[in-house]
Amino acid sequence: MPTLEFKGKSFVYTHHLGVPYRELLVVPGKSCPATGKKPDLDDNLILHGDNLEALKALLPRYAGKVDCIYIDPPYNTGTEGWCYNDAVNAPLMRDWLKKSGNPVERDDLQRHDKWLCMMWPRLQLLKELLAEDGAIFVSIDDNEVHRLRAMMDDIFGEENHVATFIWRKVDSPNDNKVAITPDHEMILCYTNDAEIVGFGPKNDASILGAYSAKDEMGRLYRDRLLKKNGANSLRADRPTMFFGIKDPDGNDVFPIHDNGEEARWAAGIETVEKHRNAGTLIWKRRERRGQTVWEPYTREFAPDIPTRPHPTIWADLPTMRQAKAMLTDIFAAVDVFATPKPVELIDRILEIATDKDSLILDSFAGSGTTAHAVLALNAKDGGNRKFILCETEDYADTLTAERVRRVIRGYDYKGTAETELHPPEKITWSTFAKDKARDVILERIEGIETFERANYDKIEKKIVDGVLTVVGQKQVTEKMPGLGGSFTYVELGEAMDLERLLAETPGHVAQLHRTGAISFLHRHRPHPCPPPNTPQRKMRVRR
Ligand SMILES: C[S@@+](CC[C@H](N)C(=O)[O-])C[C@H]1O[C@@H](n2cnc3c(N)ncnc32)[C@H](O)[C@@H]1O
Repeated sequence: MPTLEFKGKSFVYTHHLGVPYRELLVVPGKSCPATGKKPDLDDNLILHGDNLEALKALLPRYAGKVDCIYIDPPYNTGTEGWCYNDAVNAPLMRDWLKKSGNPVERDDLQRHDKWLCMMWPRLQLLKELLAEDGAIFVSIDDNEVHRLRAMMDDIFGEENHVATFIWRKVDSPNDNKVAITPDHEMILCYTNDAEIVGFGPKNDASILGAYSAKDEMGRLYRDRLLKKNGANSLRADRPTMFFGIKDPDGNDVFPIHDNGEEARWAAGIETVEKHRNAGTLIWKRRERRGQTVWEPYTREFAPDIPTRPHPTIWADLPTMRQAKAMLTDIFAAVDVFATPKPVELIDRILEIATDKDSLILDSFAGSGTTAHAVLALNAKDGGNRKFILCETEDYADTLTAERVRRVIRGYDYKGTAETELHPPEKITWSTFAKDKARDVILERIEGIETFERANYDKIEKKIVDGVLTVVGQKQVTEKMPGLGGSFTYVELGEAMDLERLLAETPGHVAQLHRTGAISFLHRHRPHPCPPPNTPQRKMRVRR
C-alpha cells in the first residue's frame, strides 16, 4: 500500500513515545465545580497546554477510553500564525526549530512537511486514547485534506475510513471578485475498528409527516396499497407474487391493474400471511372499473424514534457566520474568535458517534464549541456525556473556559425582539398599480407607525416575495438560562520521572497506582527514536 512520505517523518515517527508524561494540576480558581463539590480530575476537563504534552498526560488515565474525538487543527492556510516548535531531537528538526516562534507562512517551502510533522505524533496519541469502538472526526479544508487523508490512512488504516463529510460553512459568497470561492470544509471520519463501531442514525421528525392517520390507541400509521404499481408491477415480472387473497366476503382477490392487465402484489404469500396474523392486513372498499370492490392494504405504524441514514453533505447546518453570532451573544462583544464552529455541527457528530455516557475529546479547543455542544445535548436528553478540551493559548481561561462557564451558569443575552404589527398580506402588481388600493395600504401602515412608534426602537416594513410585513423591533436584554454542568481547569505540571517518583513520594505514587497510571507508565516507557530513514519499522505502542 502506498504510504505518505514527508520531510522529517523518520524523526517524528516515534516522537510521541519520547514526550514526557506530565502531571495534571487542578486549578481550583479557574474551575467550575458542581455546587457543594471540589474540582477533581474525574470531572469534565479543560486543559491548558500544548496538546502534544496534554494528550500524553491524559494517557495514563484515558488510554483506550475516549469514545469520540473531534479536532479542528490549523488548516495550514499560511495565514493562521501557527508555529512548528515541537522539541524533536534531530539536526533537521533543530534547524527548523532555530526559526521556532516564526509562524508557518504561505511561502514557506516546507510548510506542508512542518504541518505533517506537527500532526503525526498528535494523531498517534489520539489513536492511543480512542476506544476500540471509538471514532475520530477531523475538520480540514483543501489546503491539507489530501495529505491528512493519506496520513490518517497510515495511522488508523484505510479500511477504517468511514466517510468524508462536507459542511457548508458560508451562506453567501464571501468574495464577489473571484470566479470560484470555497464555501465548504471537510470532516474526515475514521474509527479504530470499522467492524465494531456502532453509529447512530439521524433523528428526523419530518418522517412522521408520512404517517397522517391515528388509530384508537393514538398510534400514527399509514396504509399502503398491497398491489404494486409502476415499474416491474406485472404478473410476468414476479409470477410468485400473483396469488389470491381472501377478502372479508370470502372471495379470492387478485392484483389487477385498472387497464385489466394482471399485476402483482408488493409482498409474497408469507409476508401477507404475517400481516393477516398481526392485524395489519387492511381491507378497504374502492371503486375499480365501475365496480365497488375490496382492496387490500398493509398498515405501517410510525417508528417510535423516526430516523434516517446520515447524508455526507451537511448543508442544513448553521454556518460560520451564525457560529460567530452565537459567540457575540455569549460574550456581548463582536469578533471574539475568528474560526468557531457552530454548536449544531458538533451536535451532529455527537448524534452519530456518542451515547449518553460517552467521553468526548477535543484537543484543538479554540472557543470551546465542543464543550458547549456536549452540555447542550446532555441538557436536552438527560445524558451524562463528559468532555476533555485542550487549548494551548492563554485564552484557554478567558475564552475557552469562560464560554463554558457562561453556558453552564447562563448569561445576559442582548438581542432584537420582534413583534408582528400587521398580519402578512399578499400584494400583487395589480393592487400596487391601482392608486387607490396603494393609498389605502400606505395609510394603514402610516397609522400603525404613528400609533406604535413610542413602543419600539424601529418599525420595519418589507415586501419579500410579494408579501408585506410590518414588524416592531426592540432591543432586549434577557438572561439565557444556564445548561448546568461543571468542569475542572487543569494546567500541566513538571515532567514525571518515574524512577524518582517511585523512590521519593510513596504517598503520591500510591495514588497513581490507584488510578492505574503507574502500571500504564511501566508498559509505555519511552522508546529511543529509530535511526533516520527507517520509518517503516512500526514502533507504535499497542494496547
Ligand atoms: C481552528 S481553532 C478551533 C476552533 C474550535 N473548533 C471552535 O469551534 O472554536 C484551532 C485551535 O487550536 C489551538 N491549537 C493550535 N495548536 C495547538 C496545540 N499544539 N495544542 C493545543 N491547542 C492548539 C489554537 O490555539 C486554536 O485555538
